[in-house]
Amino acid sequence: MNLDFTSVLPSLPFILKGIGVTLQIVCLAGILGFLLGVILSLCKISSIKVLNWLADAYTSIFRGTPLILQLMIIYFGSPQIFGYQIEPIVAAVAAFALNSAAYISEIIRAGILAVDKGQKEAAMALGVPYRPTMLNIILPQAMKNILPALMNEFITLTKESALVTTIGVMDVMRRAYQVGADQFKFFEPLLLAGIIYYIMVTVLTLLGKVIERRLRTSD
Ligand code: ARG
Repeated sequence: MNLDFTSVLPSLPFILKGIGVTLQIVCLAGILGFLLGVILSLCKISSIKVLNWLADAYTSIFRGTPLILQLMIIYFGSPQIFGYQIEPIVAAVAAFALNSAAYISEIIRAGILAVDKGQKEAAMALGVPYRPTMLNIILPQAMKNILPALMNEFITLTKESALVTTIGVMDVMRRAYQVGADQFKFFEPLLLAGIIYYIMVTVLTLLGKVIERRLRTSD
């Protein structure tokens, strides 16, 4: 094996610039996916049957088809869907947010159901309306239970974000691939991309542990 990192060293800043692009996609899609996930999870536990059905169908579709297909449908299909070609980064954020919401809604639903029934009953007995019961009593407790699963989802999102390479977004993965193509040497830049992804995931894991510890001490 002849590894030569000196030839990729000048391209290091170019590859590192992709971290910003990757983080942008992950953060935006994570936040939007979470918000949509909360709404979907509330639909799933609602007593209104149509809402249950719609939210279940949503999850079924987004979990039942490949993410790369959803990404490509949104990006390449956008002229037919919206009437104009959307930016690759917009398609990326949309696809990841929509996909992640399906998974996050299941995580939150399970978290809400795991909160003791007595909490809701006590709130009802005290005459607390539905919204504050959910927002101030049930959801904060559910969040604590689901934090590890949620962090897991964000880690998945970070790694899956490499799929945006296929629609031309200049993320870490695509930049590494491009450097390889320029130099006819792929192993070193791709290895570098691997190290960058690994560090990002490790930071997320540590962040999750810190938040978890904080929440636990507040008990
Ligand atoms: N490769 C999987 C797919 O294509 C990833 C799905 C995304 N997973 C997630 N937890 N957001 O379906």
